[in-house]
Amino acid sequence: MFHKKNITPIQLSVLIALIFAVCFSIGIFYFSNSLIICFFLGGITFILSLILIHYLFDMYVNRQIKLIYKFISQTKASKREEFYFKNILPPKSIEEAQLDVEKWAHQQKREFETLQQNEVFRKEFLQNLSHELKTPIFSIQGYVETLLNGAVYNNEVNMRFLQNAVKNIERLVCLVDDLDEISKLESGELQLNYSNFIIQDIIKEVFEELSFKSNEKQVICSVKKGCELPLIVYADKEKIRQVLINLVDNAIKYGKSSEGIVEASFYKVNNKEVLIEITDNGSGIAEDHKIRIFERFYRTDSARSRKEGGSGLGLAICKHIIEAHQQIIHVRSTVDVGTTFGFSLTLGK
Ligand SMILES: Nc1ncnc2c1ncn2[C@@H]1O[C@H](COP(=O)(O)OP(=O)(O)OP(=O)(O)O)[C@@H](O)[C@H]1O
Ligand SMILES: [Mg+2]
Repeated sequence: MFHKKNITPIQLSVLIALIFAVCFSIGIFYFSNSLIICFFLGGITFILSLILIHYLFDMYVNRQIKLIYKFISQTKASKREEFYFKNILPPKSIEEAQLDVEKWAHQQKREFETLQQNEVFRKEFLQNLSHELKTPIFSIQGYVETLLNGAVYNNEVNMRFLQNAVKNIERLVCLVDDLDEISKLESGELQLNYSNFIIQDIIKEVFEELSFKSNEKQVICSVKKGCELPLIVYADKEKIRQVLINLVDNAIKYGKSSEGIVEASFYKVNNKEVLIEITDNGSGIAEDHKIRIFERFYRTDSARSRKEGGSGLGLAICKHIIEAHQQIIHVRSTVDVGTTFGFSLTLGK
């Protein structure tokens, strides 16, 4: 009946009252020598002591439980709530208090882990940011100082140094623009401007916009055969243009340098969704990089990416934009075969 480890307050009260009543009855029997008196007084003693012990236990336990709730609750009860808790609501049992404390401890642990994670993100972000800023700033400083120290009069180098300084300034401006964009997306400040449009029209404009880069690298950009049938999507046109610019730009930058092919394909998945894919036949992305590719500032090959002028924010921005549309973006890639970035959009009318 009694479990030594999980004994309840009422069981404990019964046990103590019983021990007390038995001792008392033995004393009575010793003095009166009457079994009737002994049982009668023993019974009364048992009942009275049980009531008293149980009452005292209750008082003590409830006080301890109240103290526990004072400690774990984060809001202060108003006078009315206090009256309600004290007089109307049934008092919490130890088992209920134990469950609440476990829940509280679990929540505290989760909050602590989130804080720790945020701290790691914050440190990493600051480190990356200062690194990204340092490179162009030091270059600009170097060129300007050299010019001031006399190179400005050297017609062989002065224009080149100035042009290099301007390139680095442009890189800084791009970085600040991207950071501004990402912070707006993350804070949910950016409102999406939904409209119906033909997705193939946008990709053709993007290919045109980036033709100076693709021509320079001799990369052929095209819409995949069989995907020419116009598909209407319902999304923010300018934001989707931005996503496609980054994906096509990446496919050109990190694709094959000669005989490079960049293909855009469009599929109607069902009556609600359209799948858009940008494929290249470049060097691909290794397995361990693939899971981190959408992180801010993450690059698979820093030296090469930086040389190409990228800050590593493009894919993080794409992910934010697609997720703001309640859709998903993913990557499929095999080293030395190529890469495909795909995302879904709502089918328009
Ligand atoms: N198609 C691709 N093939 C191979 N690697 C890629 C491809 N697209 C992206 N990557 C890798 O992912 C990294 C992150 O891409 P992301 O677009 O975020 O940055 P970025 O192009 O370097 O800079 P930004 O887009 O800010 O100009 C790139 O630096 C590159 O290493
Ligand atoms: Mg990019």
